[in-house]
Amino acid sequence: MSNVKNIDWGKLGFNYIKTDLRYVSIWKDGSWDDGKLVEDNNITISEGSTAIHYGQQCFEGLKAYRTAEGKIQLFRPDENAKRMNNSCKRLLMPELPIEKFVEACVQVVKANEAYVPPYGTGATLYLRPYVIGIGDNLGVKPAPEFLFGVFCSPVGPYFKGGLAPVNFMISDYDRAAPYGTGAAKVGGNYAASLLAHEIAVKRGFADCIYLDPLTHSKIEEVGAANFFGITKDNKFVTPKSDSILPSITKYSLMHVAKEYLGLEVEERDVLIDNLDEFKEAGACGTAAVITPIGGIEYKEELHVFHSETVVGPITRKLYDTLCGIQIGEVKAPEGWIVEVK
Ligand code: PLP
Ligand code: COI
Repeated sequence: MSNVKNIDWGKLGFNYIKTDLRYVSIWKDGSWDDGKLVEDNNITISEGSTAIHYGQQCFEGLKAYRTAEGKIQLFRPDENAKRMNNSCKRLLMPELPIEKFVEACVQVVKANEAYVPPYGTGATLYLRPYVIGIGDNLGVKPAPEFLFGVFCSPVGPYFKGGLAPVNFMISDYDRAAPYGTGAAKVGGNYAASLLAHEIAVKRGFADCIYLDPLTHSKIEEVGAANFFGITKDNKFVTPKSDSILPSITKYSLMHVAKEYLGLEVEERDVLIDNLDEFKEAGACGTAAVITPIGGIEYKEELHVFHSETVVGPITRKLYDTLCGIQIGEVKAPEGWIVEVK
């Protein structure tokens, strides 16, 4: 392995670490330029940029994984590209060709190869693509220019790590409105969630879970991940809602549950008053991977699923299979893995 950085990989959390190079491309006068890798991790933009005032921006998150043979691979980057284009459409920003998005990610990983954590450390290289509205502007309207960037940072666990269960609390706040931007990965959704997250953490929870904004009776998702539960008769169940982020991990797990583990899969309403239907539950996402949910606090009572300290057997199998695919130890479905050569 060439030139690996001297980092204590096992101790990494989910924090920004400056790497050597990042990718930047500008959209102006109707088209994207060729884009290039740059050393500077600061961006200089007009004080009138819509990204600053009106939240005209979106982002993505995906990871590069090191295999046992030392290869580096990306997990379904084309799905991130498609989702970013949906976010761009929703916020009147220009879309990107899928190949340009994937190529930018590949270039950034290659340029920062020394930061890709070694196999077996549990750490990965997190990629953060984004599009922001830039250029002189004052009124509420789309920006005259846009910047597409991709940077990376080696990361460890987002929550506790590995398969340690964590507890969540149901928030009194809403994350997104019906017909709002909940299904787009836009910063405004996360700005709106910061207070609820802080309250949850101060109360000793890993994060909060949001209910549907209209009736407050159905689970939507976790602050930074989707939700799934395993019913007592072994079905993989996950909420269906137009105001949650369509998680690539969640859709991958639905496939894994059905095709690899032989479970029935249901995407449907999950009633907060019916948590008893589940014997296991988890949060899933790129950063969260699969984090087992020990318990959920709702109306001052903690509902415990399998255990507050030990992962359930089906959640463990889902984790082993998904992570196995990501690090090249389990055969991936056609098109899921892009090798960085
Ligand atoms: N939901 C929210 C609010 C998220 O921030 C994320 C993270 O990206 C997810 C779900 C999981 O999505 P994915 O599996 O595509 O990372
Ligand atoms: C991700 O899992 O990629 C996320 O974006 C979650 C969070 C870090 C915002």
